[in-house]
Amino acid sequence: MKSAPNLILVGPMGSGKSSIGRRLADRLGLSFVDADREIESATGAGIPLIFELEGEAGFRERERETLLRLCRTGPQVIATGGGAVLRADNRRLLAESGFVVHLDVDLENQLRRLASDRTRPLLQRPDRGEVLRRLGEERAPLYAEVADLHFPTGGGSVRQAVEQLVELLHQSWRISPLPSTETKL
Ligand code: S3P
Repeated sequence: MKSAPNLILVGPMGSGKSSIGRRLADRLGLSFVDADREIESATGAGIPLIFELEGEAGFRERERETLLRLCRTGPQVIATGGGAVLRADNRRLLAESGFVVHLDVDLENQLRRLASDRTRPLLQRPDRGEVLRRLGEERAPLYAEVADLHFPTGGGSVRQAVEQLVELLHQSWRISPLPSTETKL
């Protein structure tokens, strides 16, 4: 049983990290934070504009800073962006900072859920299916490297996924308090 302060959700775009994470946090009595929304509020700009002005490299720097900040606090449920596992230092950080769940989704459901998306810069092109397939192939080993639990969401409802996860988490995860940062005199 892994004992760690945060519950961290990783996985591809459209796997339900935010919708499942928010509900899961409610069920577990924890607060919920979405790394992408935190990046946007810290920057004062939406993700499409950050990509436009600073490129993906600029976005990844901001993502790194945000993950460092979020992983220092807790216990909480943290939904990360699909590319958060790309950097080795992020993978180390995530693995050390919580119990990591890899929310997985098949390409068909992913395409259905993202069909009308206009907010993800990497998908604003005609060959969306091919992009998602390639990203999935490249990133699957990276999600597997950090994950304590692999959870395929299938085509079921958010509610069903949350109930199954609550059950699995009871078996394999125990929240531990963050180490105190106070210095004892
Ligand atoms: C990205 C996924 C997005 C967001 C950004 C880049 C990616 O987050 O961080 O558009 O590289 O897969 P979601 O996974 O929440 O869609």
